[in-house]
Amino acid sequence: MTETVVDPPCAAATARRARGRPLKGLVLAGGKGSRLRPLTATGAKQLVPVANKPVLFYALDQLVDAGITEIGIVTGDTGAQVRAAVGDGSAFGARVTFLPQEAPLGLAHAIVTAEEFLGDVPFCMYLGDNFLKEGIERHADRFRADDCAAQILLKRVPNPAAFGVAVLDDEGQVRRLVEKPNEPISHLAVIGVYFFGPEIHAVTPLLVPSARGELEITDAIQGLIDAGKAVRSSTIEDDWIDTGKKDDMLEANRLVLATLAGRVEGTVDAESTLVGPVVVEAGADVRGSTVRGPAIIGAGTRLEDAYVGPFTAIGPGCDLVRCEIEHSIVLEGSTIRNVERRIADSLIGREVVVGRSPLKPQAIRLMLGDHSQVDVV
Ligand code: DAU
Repeated sequence: MTETVVDPPCAAATARRARGRPLKGLVLAGGKGSRLRPLTATGAKQLVPVANKPVLFYALDQLVDAGITEIGIVTGDTGAQVRAAVGDGSAFGARVTFLPQEAPLGLAHAIVTAEEFLGDVPFCMYLGDNFLKEGIERHADRFRADDCAAQILLKRVPNPAAFGVAVLDDEGQVRRLVEKPNEPISHLAVIGVYFFGPEIHAVTPLLVPSARGELEITDAIQGLIDAGKAVRSSTIEDDWIDTGKKDDMLEANRLVLATLAGRVEGTVDAESTLVGPVVVEAGADVRGSTVRGPAIIGAGTRLEDAYVGPFTAIGPGCDLVRCEIEHSIVLEGSTIRNVERRIADSLIGREVVVGRSPLKPQAIRLMLGDHSQVDVV
């Protein structure tokens, strides 16, 4: 059943959606976020911004674009923040139900948590920290038009040990799924966008926790295969990122900014230069600075004698004075002042202060959260 996906013509896609089976959405926004600490020590990893928009919002937008507007969001310890950010879903054109999960007991456990919400309606499960640049519309259309029990997306990766992987047989059928394999059994990673029919609810009660103590989604899909149900896979070429780590966030940021159209809603003085696609959001104030796009300067942010280089997203309410920064993400309310060396390849959290100290002896003085990382030259 593995096939290379070809974009259906638009009219055909719309017609299929109209007559295909309806789908609900299930977005996973619980879990631990340990790989993005300290940013996620207190905040939800799904709310870390890509091009100044929480990564979770891309999943919600893409579900709605695919005609899926009835969406459940599974939440964990950071549920209050996720609720505050998403609201009732109307800003996305969706109706959102929040589904608190008792503990991060696995992706298949999240389905168990959502069982009542899902009923017997087929659904698209989208991991809230995954980023799929081209969206999910054509995959949703395929699933709607088909009656398979599950449809998974695969992508060839150089580091399969970081993911669930699929082993295909000679005919391209999925035979085995293994979560984070120690031995190199396949280079096809399972992407965090899955489509399931109600058959999945017959499998989840049979699962037992894995070595990491979770009910694994790979085991659940394996259960469908073992029960003889139709599991379809598509190997895709689209850009896909599991935004679990700093460099993955920067790469997702780069991909979105690469498609940026420039727009100036704030003020830019005569001594400043904007080169290439640059967004200056409302209330931002750019003075004596150079911004080389693609880059975004968030609402209410001040730049003075600063250089912001390509693939940088500066969040709202920041203050950048006499400093240089490129290929970086800076979150809301942070200050960077009088730093002579250029900052690059960095992910800077909320309300962080990076500055030059006049104090003697000259030294690097740090106040860093647990699991922080600093590279000095
Ligand atoms: O990114 C794709 C990979 O996602 C797949 O290849 C793996 O098969 C799949 O197990 C998953 O692996 P991760 O180890 O990356 O999953 P993570 O723990 O990061 O959780 C993914 C998302 O689901 C994240 O937004 C947190 C949320 N989550 C996670 C768990 C374990 C929940 O909402 N509840 C949970 O119980």
